[in-house]
Amino acid sequence: MLPKHITLALVSLVLLVSTIAFAAVKDEISARVAPVGSLCMSGDECAAAPIVVASGPRSGEDIYNSKCIACHSSGAAGAPKLGDTGVWAPRIDKGIDELYASVLNGFKGMPAKGLCMDCSDDELKATVDYMVIKSQ
Ligand code: HEC
Repeated sequence: MLPKHITLALVSLVLLVSTIAFAAVKDEISARVAPVGSLCMSGDECAAAPIVVASGPRSGEDIYNSKCIACHSSGAAGAPKLGDTGVWAPRIDKGIDELYASVLNGFKGMPAKGLCMDCSDDELKATVDYMVIKSQ
């Protein structure tokens, strides 16, 4: 049999350790049962951050790189290559409105809208501007 004060010390040590362990487990459980998506009411701090939605017109560069590059980097079907100033010069001489019209309506080997069916007219014009700037 251990002396009384040692037994007491051991018991309190065990109690202390289990209290700490219990606190840790409790934290873990409350973290686990926290709602996954908490509701954000207007006026709450969480509602102050603006929700970023990809909207608005895309840049000419983005559209070129995703929609026009297939033909205009390889010269497929006789497409003027981006940056080929010699090939672009006579086209640029026709005037920017003529080039816009070619893209919007289609022109010889190029289908209407340069096949970008979800492009707005303004986006297509911005893309022509981008291509002309890169090909002068
Ligand atoms: C399927 C292939 C193809 C795609 C995709 C394409 N083009 Fe073209 N594009 C052509 C061809 C071919 C020509 C040259 C037509 C000719 O003069 O015979 C051309 C010509 C052009 C011209 C010059 C028109 C003129 O009047 O001289 C512009 C500007 C142009 N493309 C812009 C674009 C833009 C902007 C896109 C993307 C939205 C695009 N193209 C996508 C094939 C393509």
